[in-house]
Amino acid sequence: MAEFALPKNSTITKKGKVHKTPGAKDAKSFKIYRYDPDSGENPRYDTFEIDLAECGPMVLDALIKIKSEQDPSLTFRRSCREGICGSCSMNMDGRNGLACTTAIEECKGEVRITPLPHMDVIKDLVPDFTHFYAQYASIQPWLQTVTPAPSGKERLQSPDDRNKLDGLYECILCACCSTSCPSYWWNSDKFLGPAILLQAYRWLADSRDEMTGERLDELEDPFRLYRCHTIMNCSNVCPKGLSPAKAIAEIKKMVVERQI
Ligand code: SF4
Ligand code: SF4
Ligand code: FES
Repeated sequence: MAEFALPKNSTITKKGKVHKTPGAKDAKSFKIYRYDPDSGENPRYDTFEIDLAECGPMVLDALIKIKSEQDPSLTFRRSCREGICGSCSMNMDGRNGLACTTAIEECKGEVRITPLPHMDVIKDLVPDFTHFYAQYASIQPWLQTVTPAPSGKERLQSPDDRNKLDGLYECILCACCSTSCPSYWWNSDKFLGPAILLQAYRWLADSRDEMTGERLDELEDPFRLYRCHTIMNCSNVCPKGLSPAKAIAEIKKMVVERQI
Protein backbone atom coordinates (compact mmCIF):
# COMPACT_ATOMS: atom_id res chain seq x y z
CA MET A 1 0.00 0.00 0.00
CA ALA A 2 1.27 3.44 -0.86
CA GLU A 3 2.78 5.55 1.88
CA PHE A 4 3.01 9.25 1.14
CA ALA A 5 5.40 10.29 3.91
CA LEU A 6 8.72 8.86 4.92
CA PRO A 7 8.80 6.94 8.20
CA LYS A 8 10.49 9.03 10.91
CA ASN A 9 13.60 6.84 10.92
CA SER A 10 14.08 7.40 7.16
CA THR A 11 14.26 11.18 7.10
CA ILE A 12 17.58 12.98 6.84
CA THR A 13 17.98 14.93 10.05
CA LYS A 14 21.64 15.86 10.27
CA LYS A 15 24.61 16.79 8.13
CA GLY A 16 26.89 13.99 7.01
CA LYS A 17 30.66 13.80 6.99
CA VAL A 18 32.83 15.56 4.41
CA HIS A 19 35.94 13.82 3.08
CA LYS A 20 38.34 16.10 1.18
CA THR A 21 41.25 15.24 -1.10
CA PRO A 22 43.82 18.03 -0.57
CA GLY A 23 45.85 18.83 -3.67
CA ALA A 24 43.44 17.12 -6.08
CA LYS A 25 44.23 18.14 -9.70
CA ASP A 26 40.72 17.44 -10.98
CA ALA A 27 38.43 17.41 -7.93
CA LYS A 28 34.89 16.04 -8.10
CA SER A 29 32.43 15.61 -5.22
CA PHE A 30 30.07 12.71 -4.69
CA LYS A 31 27.22 13.13 -2.23
CA ILE A 32 26.31 9.62 -1.15
CA TYR A 33 23.34 8.33 0.83
CA ARG A 34 24.47 6.55 4.00
CA TYR A 35 22.33 4.36 6.20
CA ASP A 36 23.48 1.83 8.75
CA PRO A 37 20.61 0.07 10.55
CA ASP A 38 22.97 -1.13 13.30
CA SER A 39 23.84 2.45 14.29
CA GLY A 40 20.24 3.33 15.17
CA GLU A 41 20.78 6.66 13.39
CA ASN A 42 18.75 8.19 10.60
CA PRO A 43 20.24 8.25 7.10
CA ARG A 44 22.55 11.09 6.06
CA TYR A 45 24.48 12.24 3.01
CA ASP A 46 28.27 12.03 3.20
CA THR A 47 30.33 14.03 0.73
CA PHE A 48 33.49 12.57 -0.79
CA GLU A 49 35.85 14.67 -2.87
CA ILE A 50 38.10 12.58 -5.12
CA ASP A 51 40.74 13.35 -7.73
CA LEU A 52 39.41 12.33 -11.15
CA ALA A 53 42.98 12.39 -12.46
CA GLU A 54 43.53 9.24 -10.40
CA CYS A 55 40.20 7.51 -10.97
CA GLY A 56 38.65 5.34 -13.68
CA PRO A 57 35.91 6.86 -15.85
CA MET A 58 32.78 5.26 -14.41
CA VAL A 59 30.72 6.04 -11.31
CA LEU A 60 31.53 2.54 -10.04
CA ASP A 61 35.25 3.37 -10.30
CA ALA A 62 34.62 6.38 -8.07
CA LEU A 63 32.70 4.30 -5.52
CA ILE A 64 35.46 1.69 -5.41
CA LYS A 65 38.07 4.42 -4.98
CA ILE A 66 36.09 6.00 -2.15
CA LYS A 67 35.68 2.64 -0.43
CA SER A 68 39.36 1.77 -0.88
CA GLU A 69 40.84 5.12 0.15
CA GLN A 70 38.35 7.13 2.19
CA ASP A 71 35.68 5.02 3.89
CA PRO A 72 35.81 1.20 3.82
CA SER A 73 32.35 1.04 5.42
CA LEU A 74 30.66 2.41 2.26
CA THR A 75 28.41 -0.43 1.09
CA PHE A 76 27.20 -1.11 -2.45
CA ARG A 77 26.69 -4.11 -4.72
CA ARG A 78 28.78 -4.84 -7.78
CA SER A 79 30.20 -7.83 -9.53
CA CYS A 80 30.85 -7.88 -13.28
CA ARG A 81 31.77 -4.22 -13.97
CA GLU A 82 30.49 -4.86 -17.51
CA GLY A 83 26.75 -4.11 -17.33
CA ILE A 84 25.91 -7.79 -17.25
CA CYS A 85 25.14 -8.82 -13.67
CA GLY A 86 22.74 -5.96 -12.85
CA SER A 87 23.93 -5.69 -9.27
CA CYS A 88 25.26 -2.10 -9.30
CA SER A 89 21.91 -0.48 -10.11
CA MET A 90 21.38 2.75 -8.19
CA ASN A 91 20.16 6.31 -8.65
CA MET A 92 22.77 8.77 -9.91
CA ASP A 93 21.85 12.43 -10.27
CA GLY A 94 18.15 11.56 -10.13
CA ARG A 95 18.27 8.83 -12.77
CA ASN A 96 18.40 5.08 -12.23
CA GLY A 97 21.22 3.26 -13.96
CA LEU A 98 24.17 0.93 -13.62
CA ALA A 99 27.13 2.51 -11.85
CA CYS A 100 29.55 0.48 -13.98
CA THR A 101 28.19 1.80 -17.30
CA THR A 102 27.46 5.39 -16.22
CA ALA A 103 30.35 7.71 -17.00
CA ILE A 104 31.29 10.23 -14.34
CA GLU A 105 31.46 12.89 -17.04
CA GLU A 106 27.72 12.35 -17.72
CA CYS A 107 27.04 13.68 -14.21
CA LYS A 108 27.27 17.44 -13.95
CA GLY A 109 28.53 19.16 -10.78
CA GLU A 110 28.30 17.33 -7.48
CA VAL A 111 27.09 13.76 -8.11
CA ARG A 112 24.27 12.70 -5.81
CA ILE A 113 24.00 8.93 -5.39
CA THR A 114 21.13 7.15 -3.64
CA PRO A 115 19.78 3.60 -3.62
CA LEU A 116 17.07 2.69 -6.15
CA PRO A 117 13.95 4.64 -5.15
CA HIS A 118 10.99 3.19 -3.28
CA MET A 119 12.70 0.05 -2.07
CA ASP A 120 13.61 -0.72 1.51
CA VAL A 121 17.28 -0.06 2.17
CA ILE A 122 19.46 -2.71 3.78
CA LYS A 123 22.54 -0.51 4.07
CA ASP A 124 23.87 2.55 2.20
CA LEU A 125 23.30 1.88 -1.53
CA VAL A 126 22.01 -1.68 -1.12
CA PRO A 127 18.24 -2.05 -1.58
CA ASP A 128 16.23 -5.06 -0.46
CA PHE A 129 15.27 -7.14 -3.53
CA THR A 130 13.33 -9.79 -1.57
CA HIS A 131 9.90 -8.70 -2.82
CA PHE A 132 11.16 -8.11 -6.37
CA TYR A 133 12.60 -11.63 -6.55
CA ALA A 134 9.41 -13.12 -5.05
CA GLN A 135 7.45 -11.39 -7.83
CA TYR A 136 9.92 -12.81 -10.35
CA ALA A 137 9.42 -16.32 -8.96
CA SER A 138 5.64 -15.83 -9.17
CA ILE A 139 5.70 -15.71 -12.97
CA GLN A 140 7.44 -19.11 -13.08
CA PRO A 141 10.34 -17.97 -15.28
CA TRP A 142 11.24 -21.23 -16.88
CA LEU A 143 10.16 -23.21 -19.96
CA GLN A 144 6.99 -25.18 -19.25
CA THR A 145 5.65 -27.90 -21.52
CA VAL A 146 3.00 -30.64 -21.48
CA THR A 147 4.00 -32.60 -24.58
CA PRO A 148 7.06 -34.83 -24.39
CA ALA A 149 10.26 -33.59 -26.01
CA PRO A 150 11.18 -35.26 -29.32
CA SER A 151 13.05 -38.33 -28.12
CA GLY A 152 16.68 -37.62 -27.50
CA LYS A 153 16.40 -34.17 -29.06
CA GLU A 154 16.20 -30.59 -27.98
CA ARG A 155 13.04 -28.59 -28.52
CA LEU A 156 13.99 -26.62 -31.61
CA GLN A 157 12.98 -23.13 -32.65
CA SER A 158 13.01 -21.60 -36.09
CA PRO A 159 15.33 -18.60 -36.48
CA ASP A 160 12.23 -16.38 -36.76
CA ASP A 161 10.81 -17.70 -33.49
CA ARG A 162 14.18 -17.29 -31.81
CA ASN A 163 14.34 -13.69 -33.01
CA LYS A 164 11.11 -12.98 -31.10
CA LEU A 165 13.11 -13.30 -27.87
CA ASP A 166 15.49 -10.50 -28.83
CA GLY A 167 14.86 -7.44 -26.67
CA LEU A 168 13.61 -9.72 -23.87
CA TYR A 169 16.27 -12.27 -22.95
CA GLU A 170 18.86 -9.51 -22.42
CA CYS A 171 17.12 -8.27 -19.26
CA ILE A 172 19.53 -8.42 -16.33
CA LEU A 173 16.88 -7.86 -13.62
CA CYS A 174 18.56 -4.71 -12.36
CA ALA A 175 15.16 -3.20 -11.42
CA CYS A 176 16.07 0.24 -12.81
CA CYS A 177 12.79 0.20 -14.72
CA SER A 178 10.49 -0.97 -11.93
CA THR A 179 11.89 1.55 -9.48
CA SER A 180 11.37 4.34 -12.06
CA CYS A 181 7.71 3.46 -12.49
CA PRO A 182 5.24 5.60 -10.49
CA SER A 183 2.64 2.83 -10.65
CA TYR A 184 5.15 0.45 -9.10
CA TRP A 185 6.08 2.98 -6.41
CA TRP A 186 2.49 3.14 -5.20
CA ASN A 187 1.31 -0.41 -5.87
CA SER A 188 4.34 -2.68 -5.75
CA ASP A 189 2.51 -4.95 -3.33
CA LYS A 190 0.20 -6.02 -6.16
CA PHE A 191 1.47 -4.61 -9.48
CA LEU A 192 4.23 -6.79 -10.92
CA GLY A 193 6.04 -3.81 -12.45
CA PRO A 194 7.84 -3.48 -15.77
CA ALA A 195 10.84 -5.75 -15.13
CA ILE A 196 8.77 -8.75 -14.05
CA LEU A 197 6.19 -8.18 -16.79
CA LEU A 198 8.94 -8.04 -19.42
CA GLN A 199 10.20 -11.35 -18.04
CA ALA A 200 6.66 -12.75 -18.12
CA TYR A 201 6.37 -11.80 -21.78
CA ARG A 202 9.74 -13.43 -22.48
CA TRP A 203 8.06 -16.81 -21.73
CA LEU A 204 4.80 -15.92 -23.47
CA ALA A 205 6.81 -15.10 -26.59
CA ASP A 206 8.75 -18.37 -26.51
CA SER A 207 7.44 -20.70 -29.23
CA ARG A 208 8.49 -23.76 -27.16
CA ASP A 209 6.47 -22.85 -24.06
CA GLU A 210 3.07 -24.58 -23.77
CA MET A 211 1.58 -22.73 -20.79
CA THR A 212 0.46 -19.57 -22.57
CA GLY A 213 -3.16 -19.78 -21.37
CA GLU A 214 -2.19 -20.43 -17.75
CA ARG A 215 0.39 -17.65 -17.81
CA LEU A 216 -2.17 -15.17 -19.18
CA ASP A 217 -4.72 -16.30 -16.56
CA GLU A 218 -2.22 -15.41 -13.85
CA LEU A 219 -1.48 -11.99 -15.35
CA GLU A 220 -5.03 -10.92 -16.25
CA ASP A 221 -5.73 -8.93 -13.11
CA PRO A 222 -6.52 -5.26 -12.44
CA PHE A 223 -3.34 -4.89 -10.40
CA ARG A 224 -0.76 -7.44 -11.57
CA LEU A 225 -0.89 -6.24 -15.20
CA TYR A 226 -3.29 -3.34 -15.58
CA ARG A 227 -1.64 -0.92 -13.15
CA CYS A 228 0.64 -0.02 -16.07
CA HIS A 229 -0.62 3.31 -17.38
CA THR A 230 1.93 3.60 -20.21
CA ILE A 231 3.93 6.35 -18.51
CA MET A 232 7.03 4.96 -20.31
CA ASN A 233 9.60 5.77 -17.59
CA CYS A 234 10.61 2.11 -17.72
CA SER A 235 11.62 2.13 -21.38
CA ASN A 236 13.35 5.50 -21.05
CA VAL A 237 15.58 4.34 -18.21
CA CYS A 238 16.53 0.74 -19.09
CA PRO A 239 20.35 0.59 -19.23
CA LYS A 240 20.17 -2.33 -21.68
CA GLY A 241 17.98 -0.39 -24.12
CA LEU A 242 14.98 -2.70 -23.66
CA SER A 243 11.34 -1.65 -23.71
CA PRO A 244 9.29 -3.14 -20.88
CA ALA A 245 6.39 -0.87 -21.90
CA LYS A 246 6.29 -2.57 -25.31
CA ALA A 247 6.38 -6.01 -23.69
CA ILE A 248 3.50 -5.00 -21.42
CA ALA A 249 1.53 -3.77 -24.43
CA GLU A 250 2.14 -7.15 -26.12
CA ILE A 251 0.78 -8.99 -23.06
CA LYS A 252 -2.33 -6.79 -23.06
CA LYS A 253 -2.76 -7.53 -26.76
CA MET A 254 -2.52 -11.29 -26.13
CA VAL A 255 -5.15 -11.02 -23.39
CA VAL A 256 -7.53 -9.23 -25.77
CA GLU A 257 -6.83 -11.51 -28.73
CA ARG A 258 -7.63 -14.68 -26.84
CA GLN A 259 -11.09 -13.28 -26.07
CA ILE A 260 -11.94 -12.60 -29.71
S1 SF4 B 1 14.08 -4.30 -18.42
FE1 SF4 B 1 16.01 -3.16 -18.37
S2 SF4 B 1 15.83 -1.82 -16.56
FE2 SF4 B 1 14.28 -3.40 -16.38
S3 SF4 B 1 15.23 -4.96 -15.10
FE3 SF4 B 1 15.55 -5.54 -17.25
S4 SF4 B 1 17.53 -4.68 -17.78
FE4 SF4 B 1 16.90 -3.68 -15.89
S1 SF4 C 1 4.88 2.09 -19.06
FE1 SF4 C 1 3.81 1.03 -17.42
S2 SF4 C 1 5.39 -0.14 -16.42
FE2 SF4 C 1 6.44 1.39 -17.67
S3 SF4 C 1 6.81 3.11 -16.29
FE3 SF4 C 1 4.86 3.43 -17.27
S4 SF4 C 1 3.30 2.60 -15.90
FE4 SF4 C 1 5.29 1.78 -15.31
S1 FES D 1 28.70 -4.44 -11.80
FE1 FES D 1 27.50 -5.85 -12.96
S2 FES D 1 26.09 -4.54 -13.98
FE2 FES D 1 27.38 -3.17 -12.92
